[in-house]
Amino acid sequence: MTRTYRIDDGRQTLVLAARNDRLPEVVYWGACLPLAEDLDTLHAAHAIDVTGGMLDENPDLSVCPEATRSFPGQPGLILRDTDGTPLLPKFCFTSGSQNGTLVLTYTDAPNGLTLTVTFASDPDTHVITCQTTLDATRPVHLHWLAAPVLPGPQQSDEMIDVSGRWCGEFQLSRTAWAPGMRYRENRTGRTGHEHFPGLIVPCRGATNTRGEAYAFHYGWSGGHRMIAEELQDGRRQIQWGHAARMETEASTQFKTAPLYIAYSDRGLNGCAVAFQRHLRDRIVTWPKPDAPRPVHYNCWEAVYFDHKLPVLKDIADRAAKLGAERFVLDDGWFGQRDDDTRSLSDWTVDPRKYPDGLHPLIDHVHGLGMTFGLWFEPEMINEDSDIHRAHPDWVLGSEDQTLGRQQKALNMALPAVRDYLYDRMSAILRDHDIDYIKWDHNRVLPMPDAAQTRGSYALIDRLRTEFPQVEIESCASGGGRIDFGILQRTQRVWLSDSNDALERLRIQHDAALFLPLSVTGSHVGPRVCHTSGRTLDISFRAWVAAQRHMGFEMDPRELSEHEATVLSEVTSWWKHHRDWMQRADILRLDSADPAVIAEQQLAREKDRFVVFAGKAATSGQIVPRPLRLTELDPDATYRVRLINRDSASHLSRGTPILKSDAIKMTGTYLMQHGVTLPWSFPERMWVLEGERL
Ligand code: DGJ
Repeated sequence: MTRTYRIDDGRQTLVLAARNDRLPEVVYWGACLPLAEDLDTLHAAHAIDVTGGMLDENPDLSVCPEATRSFPGQPGLILRDTDGTPLLPKFCFTSGSQNGTLVLTYTDAPNGLTLTVTFASDPDTHVITCQTTLDATRPVHLHWLAAPVLPGPQQSDEMIDVSGRWCGEFQLSRTAWAPGMRYRENRTGRTGHEHFPGLIVPCRGATNTRGEAYAFHYGWSGGHRMIAEELQDGRRQIQWGHAARMETEASTQFKTAPLYIAYSDRGLNGCAVAFQRHLRDRIVTWPKPDAPRPVHYNCWEAVYFDHKLPVLKDIADRAAKLGAERFVLDDGWFGQRDDDTRSLSDWTVDPRKYPDGLHPLIDHVHGLGMTFGLWFEPEMINEDSDIHRAHPDWVLGSEDQTLGRQQKALNMALPAVRDYLYDRMSAILRDHDIDYIKWDHNRVLPMPDAAQTRGSYALIDRLRTEFPQVEIESCASGGGRIDFGILQRTQRVWLSDSNDALERLRIQHDAALFLPLSVTGSHVGPRVCHTSGRTLDISFRAWVAAQRHMGFEMDPRELSEHEATVLSEVTSWWKHHRDWMQRADILRLDSADPAVIAEQQLAREKDRFVVFAGKAATSGQIVPRPLRLTELDPDATYRVRLINRDSASHLSRGTPILKSDAIKMTGTYLMQHGVTLPWSFPERMWVLEGERL
């Protein structure tokens, strides 16, 4: 007997099939299958042959490969009894239902275990969300539990996963498929710059805009493990779960985080758009879903810890004049926080810096028409703090552990710690008109610990229940905590501490494989970047920030008149377009010139777009190569205008038409030949607006 199930969302079909009562395998995942396809036959057709040197029957590559069924690769579940005896489960079908979500349950009666896998499809976003739950009749110790295991495509030569560093987030690493495994395990206890939990498997020849690709994201902030393994028989499996052994207590239930997956036949962009839309429309809970994203001003790189009310008021005046709509007071307002060695966890306003509390500053900011946001780093504690002196036992990890940024983490699994933080933070939110928290997390944990992540989630959830109108930004020394788990509770990420527009251009481009504009913070930094030492032109800085959720983070007193004018103009442009841009799809373009990093933001209605073509380096050839656009209606005519053509350099001496006029061309031409841009210096951005006529 064969049990079969299929999931269809209009773009992809996923078929599961099982022999008798066994766990099912994903036997098909890809382009939509006709409804007439016979799934029993498909299952039979999927079976691979047996030859010399193989077992007489090929072990199933099931949604949770079982060691007891001779599976030769990594199993999907590793656990022990409380006395340390390894448990070797063998699951049998118990029940299945498919009302929107496919729910399949299997039991291992001798071991008292139940395994449940779920697959939820979404016909609008085309992301399938899957999850595995393990229940036990008595507490057991978990080493490893995989979310439903998927096969890796055979038509693929490589996989792309994501690594990075402080000020260098979202670096794509390509690894060739080969027998054995690509194993990524994040044991830092937070999502981390180094380990964004995402994977893209392009099929042979796929680019941003063409070909087939599969993508995965594990929505968890505590550190993940990913296994992409090729077996001796050529089959490939992809497993995701929490980092191994991060459940420190025996329990009767364990659950993976949701695993988000997407198939695309429109290049990497098909997966990227699925994730962007799913995150924006399904995961993030917006206090005001239709409100425009406000332009931010953040004072960190202007004043650091040196808070002086008159200076901050002056800065606020200037920021408002430039177009800012939300003023965020960063680190330095509490305890005796004059540098980063002290006061974390002492969440009371510093009376030396703010003798009358925060109200005078907040009132001033409100008087300028801006809302007010405040920085916290709730999970952290300095040894030099009142709370550490009173409660050294609240710290996570050993007393003699190595510090990170001179700080330790609080043990968020302790209800007393969460209550304390809730009391302090809610008191500040209750007493002040604050609509935004920048929630920082500046060190890795002493060890991975799932209870710590759950504790952080619980605190955020509790605060959001009492203060549903307050938005939260997830920051961790920049982009150290970015994932769909934290974004279920927050509305923005601080993508990177690098405000260097050149670095940002690349980071934003690669992060767009997963993140939409609406959640991706991007600020115009100082003229001389504080983290790279690079000096960049204001228009490049402004346009790079305008690609995402725009803000400023320099001392506005340093701006020349020209710089202030450019910044105000680009900010007005952004405000004029943000309503459609915050819902648009970010499509990465296949630039023929590796020096050009280009994207097209296409309105949902496909009637307008903006192209940002950033010149990240000097080109090899002397003049720009045409830039092909994407996803346009081939038969429609578009009016395309180079909106910043006035910034063309005097070294551009020719007459490409875009320097003087808009062009009206068909989608076919724009996608097949592409637009021919004028020559420009490196570290400049061309911005094209297009509308369908
Ligand atoms: C690290 C963040 O990424 C910065 O933006 C800033 O908030 C500092 N922490 C403050 O300590």
